[in-house]
Amino acid sequence: MKNLLSIESLSATEIRGLIGESAVMKSTRGRHAAHPLRHQCWALVFSKSSTRTRVSFEVGIRELGGDPIFLAAADIQLGRGEPIKDTARVMGRMLHGAVIRTFDQQDVEDFAAFSGIPTINALTDAEHPCQIIADLFTITELRGSLEGLRVAFIGDGDCNVARSWIWAAARCGFELAIASPEKFQPPQGLLDAAGGKVSVTKDSAEAAAGAHVLYTDVWVSMGKEDEAAYRAAQFQGYQINASLLAAAAPSALVMHCLPAYRGKEIDEATFEAHAETIFRQAENR
Ligand code: CP
Ligand code: NVA
Repeated sequence: MKNLLSIESLSATEIRGLIGESAVMKSTRGRHAAHPLRHQCWALVFSKSSTRTRVSFEVGIRELGGDPIFLAAADIQLGRGEPIKDTARVMGRMLHGAVIRTFDQQDVEDFAAFSGIPTINALTDAEHPCQIIADLFTITELRGSLEGLRVAFIGDGDCNVARSWIWAAARCGFELAIASPEKFQPPQGLLDAAGGKVSVTKDSAEAAAGAHVLYTDVWVSMGKEDEAAYRAAQFQGYQINASLLAAAAPSALVMHCLPAYRGKEIDEATFEAHAETIFRQAENR
């Protein structure tokens, strides 16, 4: 695999391979036998804020022997309108790899095509593949496998994280139940293209019923700040809390990609009761 641009573009074998590789990397952390990025420089080109993704990539690249260069898009000519395909052709001649966080999925795809260097999607409006790989790894650590799994995604079913969950469910064959207000449900075309055991409802309790994982993400994704008040009203009732958890399977995991907004997509007590799982997700990035 040269690039990691989306879950959509991965096969089940590749996803399972990444989960297995994650386990090896985690267990050998600090004493890796090989440093495959030695003498390499990798750029992190970010157009949006980040804590987990930025830090995990900067640390990971260093631990594998490479040097990361963090470039806020606003600080480079990209932010002043230089086309992505020109930025990519320059960086492709100077760097060994790139990690891109931006808005349009096409920009990451174009960067990969025009740069010719390994390119990783660190979040776009369409997908957040590295998050979902880390989450699948976390579930595998805590549950043993993805066999027979039912995941309930509560909240913005049309956001990047939900979309990557849809592709992951389709590829890996587990059940995904999405509960979202009508205006924030994933488009039918996406559901048809992905296939798999994915259901969509307006009813949070219906999605949560029997779930082994209750998962949520922010109501207001980056770039949607103008809609914050509208979304806050629309998403009332789409919160992970004790009463929703009562509908789930016994000992269900509560997961959140973070950052979390208590009192919105999750309540304080439920967040803190499941903090060990949630911060394990972050560690596994
Ligand atoms: N979950 C996640 O991607 O967090 P950051 O936005 O902090 O990178
Ligand atoms: N859906 C969120 C994920 C944050 C990690 C966003 O795009 O802001």
